Amino acid sequence: MTRFENTSLTRRSMILSGAAMGAAAMLPAGRVFAQATAPAAAASTSQRMLGDVAVNPIGLGCQWSASGDDAVLNDQYGGSIPRETAIQMIREAVDQGVTLIDTAEAYGPFLSEEVVGEALQGIRDQVVLESKFGWDIDPVTGERTGGLNSKPEHVRTAIEGMLLRLRTDRLDIVYQHRVDPEVPIEDVAGVISDLMAEGKVLHWGLSEPGIDTIRRAHAAQPLAAIQNEYSMMWRGPEVDVLPLCEELGIGFVCWSPMAMGFLGGKMNAESRFEDGILAAIPRFAPDALPANMALFDVVAAWAQEKQVTPAQIALAWLSAQKPFVVPIPGTTKLEHMRENTASTNVTFTPEELAQLTAQVDAVQIQGARLPEGVLQLSGVDTPPKS
Ligand SMILES: NC(=O)c1ccc[n+]([C@@H]2O[C@H](COP(=O)([O-])OP(=O)(O)OC[C@H]3O[C@@H](n4cnc5c(N)ncnc54)[C@H](OP(=O)(O)O)[C@@H]3O)[C@@H](O)[C@H]2O)c1
Repeated sequence: MTRFENTSLTRRSMILSGAAMGAAAMLPAGRVFAQATAPAAAASTSQRMLGDVAVNPIGLGCQWSASGDDAVLNDQYGGSIPRETAIQMIREAVDQGVTLIDTAEAYGPFLSEEVVGEALQGIRDQVVLESKFGWDIDPVTGERTGGLNSKPEHVRTAIEGMLLRLRTDRLDIVYQHRVDPEVPIEDVAGVISDLMAEGKVLHWGLSEPGIDTIRRAHAAQPLAAIQNEYSMMWRGPEVDVLPLCEELGIGFVCWSPMAMGFLGGKMNAESRFEDGILAAIPRFAPDALPANMALFDVVAAWAQEKQVTPAQIALAWLSAQKPFVVPIPGTTKLEHMRENTASTNVTFTPEELAQLTAQVDAVQIQGARLPEGVLQLSGVDTPPKS
């Protein structure tokens, strides 16, 4: 029996709690969405396990960079948010029951961690705070070489910097942001174990690792979570990573659960991206996007049927896949954070879930999920430890 089969924190309990709580409400703008509930109710029955770490089912991604104006933060998709609103959003998310806050050294670099650290003043102990190391970033200037660096001494320096920016004495979960093919994973596990012994890191995880590396890392120092891209639009983890997480009792945190805005309804067949990451992603290119809109049509129809929003359908479907899956949607809008957090109130009967999944299965997504150069950094295994 796996750790997940043995837990009382099952999908069924989440469905029941959601059913008891959920009621749709009409927004002034005419959109309908499932409303947020009191944090205590959200926390009591629906927590999910990332290894031994309990979190509420929807987290919050905090990934921003400088805009040139200190008062404004940019996201990677052409959006922006006043810094003060970002701080307000993080604090309100915690009020609404979000307990998993995700960021990374590389987001900015440093800037997102600074914003999160400021936002969590006084409420740090209410959250599971996670950040990531692994890129070759100068610890003083924040300058990036573009390469990876998980050499143990660099990892230690990076994590010391995170603690300062996040204004905390410990990281609840720290991830290797991409596997460094030059450093055996046992060496990375070694420095993480040392930092655990010092109380600076409580748990660790890997982002987009190879299968062999997951097994070796977990054997060296048990992993709390894998953080990979996973959404209705990119279902690669279903092949081998999710089954392995289930086997080993490792949690799974989904990045880009909204397929970078696509599943929230931010694109249409005519959308064109001239710069930024979206312009480089094959599934959003002009020769793929019109066909891929068939997936959004499925999501929009279910949203209409259930009187909720497409974003909520996308998140609720993802949460329904496994009881140890936790999406971390990112947003520049307070109302979207509220909507995403309240997606825990959207439930499916087993028949509805099977029907929705069959419709999602029927759409063949055209184009790769990421540019080729970025994809090469996923699924990487480290050299054996000599
Ligand atoms: N481990 C890794 O390598 C990795 C990689 C990428 C990201 N991440 C983490 O994962 C988090 C989420 O990923 P992501 O931001 O790339 O992708 P995402 O959450 O799939 O998509 C974000 C996009 O969705 C839109 N959106 C969010 N909520 C919405 C709603 N309710 N309705 C309509 N649109 C909505 C946002 O627009 P608005 O701003 O208009 O709401 C934004 O454009 C990041 O913040 C980061 O913490 C990790």
